[in-house]
Formats: sequence, structure tokens, C-alpha cells
Amino acid sequence: MSVAVRLAHEADLAGWRAGARAAMAADLAPEDVTWRVGDAGGDLFATPVTSAPAQAFTVPRRFVELADSALLHQDTERFSLMYRLLWRLRCDPGVLTDAADPDIRRAEALAKAVHRDIHKTHAFLRFKEIEPEAAGEESLYLAWFEPSHHTLEASAPFFRDRFTSMRWAILTPERSARWDGTVLSFGPGATRDAVPAKDRLDAHWRAYYRSIFNPARVKIKAMTKEMPKKYWRNMLETREVTPLLRAAGHRSAGMVAAEPTPASPMTAVEARRRPVHAPLPRDLGTLAGVHREVEACRRCPIGALATQCVFGEGPPAARLMIVGEQPGDREDLAGKPFVGPAGKVLDAALSEAGIDRSAACLTNAVKHFKYEPRGKRRQHKTPSTSEIDHCRWWLDQERALVKPKTIVALGASAARGVLGQSVKIGEVRGRSIPLADGAALWVTVHPSYLLRLPDDRTRAVEMRRFVDDLRGAHHTITDRHSAA
Ligand code: URA
Repeated sequence: MSVAVRLAHEADLAGWRAGARAAMAADLAPEDVTWRVGDAGGDLFATPVTSAPAQAFTVPRRFVELADSALLHQDTERFSLMYRLLWRLRCDPGVLTDAADPDIRRAEALAKAVHRDIHKTHAFLRFKEIEPEAAGEESLYLAWFEPSHHTLEASAPFFRDRFTSMRWAILTPERSARWDGTVLSFGPGATRDAVPAKDRLDAHWRAYYRSIFNPARVKIKAMTKEMPKKYWRNMLETREVTPLLRAAGHRSAGMVAAEPTPASPMTAVEARRRPVHAPLPRDLGTLAGVHREVEACRRCPIGALATQCVFGEGPPAARLMIVGEQPGDREDLAGKPFVGPAGKVLDAALSEAGIDRSAACLTNAVKHFKYEPRGKRRQHKTPSTSEIDHCRWWLDQERALVKPKTIVALGASAARGVLGQSVKIGEVRGRSIPLADGAALWVTVHPSYLLRLPDDRTRAVEMRRFVDDLRGAHHTITDRHSAA
């Protein structure tokens, strides 16, 4: 007997499982089963096969995981491949661990490509805001994306967990996903023109990307390898690259032609020095407004990983602003800065320096927690300079609104977030650096540095230096204040 199993759509995992179970129960060899998607005709399993399998057997978890990924690949042979493996598994359970087996190797290659595709969706998908027509209604967020495989169902739960409070839809040529705040549902595909090319904040973001653009850092080959061109079209930051490279006299302004010739050092320095204090959009004119926008910010991949943004905390006109690197695991869960182990060290140092934490604004250079999953743990990862530079937009908004007299940067990432360029802590520590807006910057170590020191004596010495730095910074305020 030869049969065809019909699947409802390309990512119909439940349909494949039911069909495979029925085919195994009917003892159908792989060559006797064909797999069809949609309404294609043929001898289909019209009713489930109910006869008991010749030999009941349990499918190892490893196979289920491999199948759930490999079956989402665009390869038209994937359904047969996985059924063949299932069939072989019944007689030869060892096949799954045979790394040289051609079927296993093929299935693993498919699964890997699918994982990569899901990762790219998480990293490169961008929502556009559709503002409500009536007052009191919420915005809808729409994204257009072209996955390389049938991965929308697998990618969408990530966005549901990250953007739970927003109403959104992701449209792809083949399928669409919708989240209404309660239910995640899937439907037919759409066309690109269903998503507007621009939204409310586009102009501001583009101005920002232009302001942080550094032609010396652009690596076209690496970018196009990681990010196929079809994704570029949906990303504002990449749309800025061609004109900026052209403006910088770059030979590879054709975008993908070749690795760029290095821009002259002067061009790079000038680009970096362009003012980052872009004009405030009207709706970003309050700390609450900025906070809301940061919450929705997914312009770099970190935002997509974190539970929530951790915005600055403290009086809206605090005279002292303390800038950390990025929220840690505890801060990410609590939504507040410096509530974990590094926060405890900071609290102790502030109290020894005679500084009231509640009178200061505590914030971070990067507003989302960057980490790498390690088993059940989330291991902190240092943000890259480009992530710090992207997030500098938000720190600048906070600075412009709070207008602190003194800023303390805790560690190198924080210093870069404030200055827009890297400095060596040892070279700038212990003195005040005047900033363009009139504030004084003090750079010191990050409290987690103290936590990592190997012995009590060194820790005590370094804690004293840290407290001295905080005290020195605080004096800048109290001296200015009493002079005023
Ligand atoms: N480390 C930081 O830099 N910031 C926090 O908010 C917590 C830990």
C-alpha cells in the first residue's frame, strides 16, 4: 500500500506527528509514504489509522527536538527524511547518536539552519507603530519579515513574551502571527505593502544612526554574511549606511560590492564627534515618555532578550547622576537599577561617602540586560561598544531632562555611554572631566570589580579608593551648591 499524508501548512508539526504515528502503526515503509502540503490531491489518510503498531516504541526526546526543528526547513524532502529516521529508529535506537549517518547529518544541518533563521528573526525583525485613529485606543505594531524557512510559529512566542503588553502582528509572505494581548494566533501570509515604510519615530532614529555612524567600523562582508540583504530593507539603521558611506567618500557605497577601504582617520574621528544630543521629539520630552519609548526599543538585539527595560531611578532633577553599565539579572527581573549584588556594594560605598542614594539618579549606559543562557542561569555579557553607542540615545535623553551637575560613571562601559568614546579608567580616574552641557564627569570603577577581587585586603583597599572617588564627585556638587 502506498499513501500520502496531507499537512495543513508548511509548519504543520502536529499534522506530521499524527501522520507519522498513523503510518508507523500501519507498518508503512518510508518509500510507501508521501507527504503533501495543502490541498494537493492523492490517496490521503482520510481517517486516522487505529490499528496498534506492530511493535510499540518510545521516541527519544532527542528525536522529537531534532524533528521539531528540521521539519521547519524549506527542504521539500524534510518530511520523508524525518519519517525515514523514525522508521530506522525503531530497529536501531543507536542511529541517533551516529554522527556519521547521512540521514542524521542531514537532519542536523536542517535543524541548525532553522535555529539560525529563528535567531535572525529575533534579532532583525523591526516593528512599525500604527497610531490609533481614536483617542484612548492603543497603537498596533506591525512588522514585515521574510524568514528563510517555515519558522514563524517557532519565532513568534519570543515576541509574545517580550511584548506582552503591546498588540502586534508579524506578516511574512507565507504566514502571519497576531498577538492581541491574550491570544497568539496564526493566519495566511501577506505582502510587504501591508506594513508602512515609516512610523512616528523614524526621522529621529535615522538622525540618531547618522550621529553615531563611524565608517571605519563598517564591515560590509561581515554584515552581509550575518544579515542577508533581504533583512536590510526592513531596518532603518542599514538604510542609512549607503548614503553615509557615500558621504564619507567610501568606495563601497554600493553596499555589498566589497569590503570597505578604510576611511581616513580624520573621517572616522569627525563622524564620531558629531553631536549625539539630537533634538528631543515632542513626545520624548518627559522622563515618563522616554521610559515608555525605551520599553518598546528593540533597535539592538539586547532589548529583545531582556524581560523589561531598566530605566533610571531617582528625583527628576537630581544633581548627582550615577551611571552603571547595564542591568544585571536581578535588575532585569525587578525593573530597577542596582538592586543585586553590585547594588549592595554601591549602597555600602555611597553610605560610607555620606551620599544619600535616594537623592541621586541611578541609571545605566545600556537599558536592557545582555546575557547568555548557561543552563538555567543567565550569564552577564558585557555590551559591545556599538550597543553602548546605540543606547547612548536614551542616556542622552535622560541627561537632557534631569540635567545633573555631576555624573559618576561606574566603569568603562558607563564612561563610554557618557563620553561617546572609550577611555582608560586608570588615566581619567580621580579627577573631574568637564562635559559640554556644563556637568562634571567622574569616572571610577564598577562595583562588580570589587566583587571579583580575590582577597579581603585588596578589596578593602579598592573599596576605600572607590569611596574616595564617590566622595570627590559629591564634593563637586556640594562645593558648587554652596558657592551658588
Ligand atoms: N550593574 C550595573 O551596571 N547596573 C545595574 O543596574 C546593576 C548592576
